[in-house]
Amino acid sequence: MKKIAVIGTGYVGLVTGTCLASLGHKVTCVDIDEKRISSLQDGHCPLHEPGLSHLLQSNLLENRLQFSTVLKEAVQGAEAVFIAVGTPENNDGSADLSYVKNAVENLSLYINDGTLIIIKSTVPPGTNQKVQSWMQSRSERTFHVVSNPEFLREGSALNDFFYGDRIVIGSTDLKAGQFLEEIYRKLKTPRLLTDPLSAEMIKYASNAFLATKISFINEISSICEKLGGDIEQVAQGMGMDSRIGEQFLRAGIGFGGSCFPKDTKALVQVAKETGHPFKLLSTVMDVNERQKNLLVEKALKRYGSLKGKNVAVLGLAFKPNTDDIRESPAVSLIQRLQKLEANPTAYDPVVKSIPFCPVSDSIHEVLTGADIAMICTEWSSICDLSLDVYETTMKEAVLFDGRNCYAPEDFEGRNIEYHSVGRQAYE
Ligand code: UGA
Repeated sequence: MKKIAVIGTGYVGLVTGTCLASLGHKVTCVDIDEKRISSLQDGHCPLHEPGLSHLLQSNLLENRLQFSTVLKEAVQGAEAVFIAVGTPENNDGSADLSYVKNAVENLSLYINDGTLIIIKSTVPPGTNQKVQSWMQSRSERTFHVVSNPEFLREGSALNDFFYGDRIVIGSTDLKAGQFLEEIYRKLKTPRLLTDPLSAEMIKYASNAFLATKISFINEISSICEKLGGDIEQVAQGMGMDSRIGEQFLRAGIGFGGSCFPKDTKALVQVAKETGHPFKLLSTVMDVNERQKNLLVEKALKRYGSLKGKNVAVLGLAFKPNTDDIRESPAVSLIQRLQKLEANPTAYDPVVKSIPFCPVSDSIHEVLTGADIAMICTEWSSICDLSLDVYETTMKEAVLFDGRNCYAPEDFEGRNIEYHSVGRQAYE
């Protein structure tokens, strides 16, 4: 059992802190947001993440997990401090390290001799070195800074923590690396011990590669639409090659969320600063922007104008099993529809409201009287919806499916017009 402090109770900090407590450690999560901390102290989980609320409450009950706004208390006596604060996007796309710097500067006031500082936040390659010099310029204490990127997917974060593909530890000091390994001792996940810069690059490169896979399959889907192939079959056939793998080959209306868009932009910026422009990744981002417009473009082609059309937007979250709408393709779709003077109304099973569009938690309600339905998120309550509902509730049953929830043959004998991604329309 180790005494651990986690700075930042955002998505990464909260999941990491709670899971470390479940491994038997004594964890204090610190945040400057008093309201958030007091609600966490009462056992309220601020995120929609399957299993997290339960784990949080049981760790609180067992006294393994604490929440505090007082950094000094959390850090004094801690053998290891995880930095898990946000690294938002600067105007030029680079990562804003001011929260990391601020956390490190505050930490330098209270840190004990020999404390391990672990960078969990997603940071550009070279940040570990910066953190060391920020600390050295402010503290006489001895400490080690280790990079330990996270690979948690929203919606399956607990599974990814306990049964991940790898734990990457970037350290210049063998003992510091071994200490972190000790913290993860109970996990059977394969380890990779490397230098800090490589660890930081592994995180960026992994997200950039997955984003590339998505834009690649989306490009193939556009060509399939023109030539007459079926992207689902193509992706299946490609994925059967173990060198390619079947994951992240789902064509759709593009990637969103707080990670892929931000991290790809940041890596493009990092590359630019080295004098080596990452053209491939810039194109991946361009393809994604185009893909977000796909359903509206298809509808414009079909109708000429969308003015006055009632559009049921099905799904707001950037992917299922989360309430996160950051960079969600659904959000840009709604904004585009509004510019075109259409009337969107959204349904999502967990996102209850957004400021600029009416939202209902009844899929029947948003479909009733709609001219067009557009699927943006593949929630099971959407993908499993009986096609009878479209036929019986909509004014005209015209469905644009941005996540290929249905197969075109499902529509045979139905009075529904069906447009999807990378396949021929069923009219
Ligand atoms: C992603 C990575 O998968 C995690 O490994 C990483 O730790 C995390 O970013 C992070 O950097 O913190 P996440 O953003 O939660 O996780 O979600 P993903 O499941 O990767 O999906 C991202 C987006 O890609 C979603 O909008 C999803 O709809 C889209 N996607 C995914 C596709 O369009 N097609 C696919 O085949 C897969």
